[in-house]
Amino acid sequence: MKVLVVGSGGREHALVWKIAQSPLVTEIFCAPGNAGIANLASCVPLEAHDIEGLVDFARQNDCDLTVVGPEAPLVAGIVDAFKAKGLRIFGPSRAAAAIEGSKAWAKEIMLKAKIPTAKFAVVDNLPDAKKYIREHGVPVVVKADGLAAGKGVVVAEDEAEALSAVEEMLGGRFGEAGLRVVLEDKLEGEEVSVLAFCDGKNVLPLLSSQDHKRVFDGDRGPNTGGMGAYAPVPFYDAGLAEEVKNTILSPAIRALAEAGRPYVGVLYAGLMITPEGPKVLEFNCRFGDPEAQPLLMLLKNDLVEVMLAVLEGRLEEINLEWYPGFAACVVLCAPGYPGAYPKGELISGLERVPEGVEVFHAGTARKGEKIVTNGGRVLGVTARGATLEEALALAYRAAEVIDFPGKHYRRDIGWRAYNLSPRS
Ligand code: AMP
Ligand code: GLY
Repeated sequence: MKVLVVGSGGREHALVWKIAQSPLVTEIFCAPGNAGIANLASCVPLEAHDIEGLVDFARQNDCDLTVVGPEAPLVAGIVDAFKAKGLRIFGPSRAAAAIEGSKAWAKEIMLKAKIPTAKFAVVDNLPDAKKYIREHGVPVVVKADGLAAGKGVVVAEDEAEALSAVEEMLGGRFGEAGLRVVLEDKLEGEEVSVLAFCDGKNVLPLLSSQDHKRVFDGDRGPNTGGMGAYAPVPFYDAGLAEEVKNTILSPAIRALAEAGRPYVGVLYAGLMITPEGPKVLEFNCRFGDPEAQPLLMLLKNDLVEVMLAVLEGRLEEINLEWYPGFAACVVLCAPGYPGAYPKGELISGLERVPEGVEVFHAGTARKGEKIVTNGGRVLGVTARGATLEEALALAYRAAEVIDFPGKHYRRDIGWRAYNLSPRS
């Protein structure tokens, strides 16, 4: 099979790495890819949002399967465009991807399906927003309805902060994405990411994982795309997994199907494990980045076989198998990220990485014989171990030998892993 992967980050490198291990696969393309992906796939100079260009490429090159990494093309309808031309593609339709593309609609579905989530209101004008915030009080969480590249959520601790966030969003800071705003209760607890393969009717959860969104140790500083992740989460036990499947994942898939938007692909539930049980913070319509990196390193199955079962509606035939132990991913990022940062800095030490470590490239490019930085998140250094400590120790050894000017990474990935369940 010839496979096309769409995207250019660490998640896509991990997808390409895993797909390359499938005996079903003869050739991999990646659009646009990065310097690490280029070792495993032919990189194609097409951007992830260039849906027409990607359709043409897949047709001209007889791609048997296309796998989409990022949310933007899914929400824009890349799956519908491929299917209209008879091309096989892994991911939800535009209608189903609205579970991430519209937070207001996602909330409606959750309400309808009685999925536990924070209490909320949707507003589209300042007077209503002010009234809600005054009556509700703080803290309150302010969310732009549409896609905002991870910057559309403000957890406001006081009224002024909440009002200024709403004003910015309704004022057009995120374009159309912010013209409707979800206001919701702040939830307390531990965050866990639970991803599941879905074939429209069946749900097959992956291991649990935990992201680290803040840029600095101790969960301080601004939110990022994710500074590291590990899997599985020790306190996410079988009972919790069962509860999440029964109260969140299965009802979501049923509700989407009933809404005439069957969900096919990976559904990502961002959860808060509160004292009252797991509640949904958000749904995403794709693999998480960086959660995909440790998860795919732990997955034993042939990913392509699993994806074909998803697309053919026979997920009940699949049993996910996992390597024992844990995997951890430490993200090395450029200085200044998530603000402005330099590009084009020489990356050294890649050849000295200890055996067993996978260095998934995110923002990198090739410059002659050299690899240089080309993004905020540069590399996702990922390792497996019998214990989480072993996985982390190995990943951190590699993180230290790789270097580029101003390299920054969190030294405390996994620090919340051994927090007791907030319910105990
Ligand atoms: P989201 O993009 O919806 O995942 O939000 C980004 C981050 O904001 C989440 O990972 C949480 O840390 C935080 N967040 C979102 N919604 C809430 C909420 N209702 N209560 C507390 N924190 C939240
Ligand atoms: N790691 C968070 C996300 O992929 O949305």
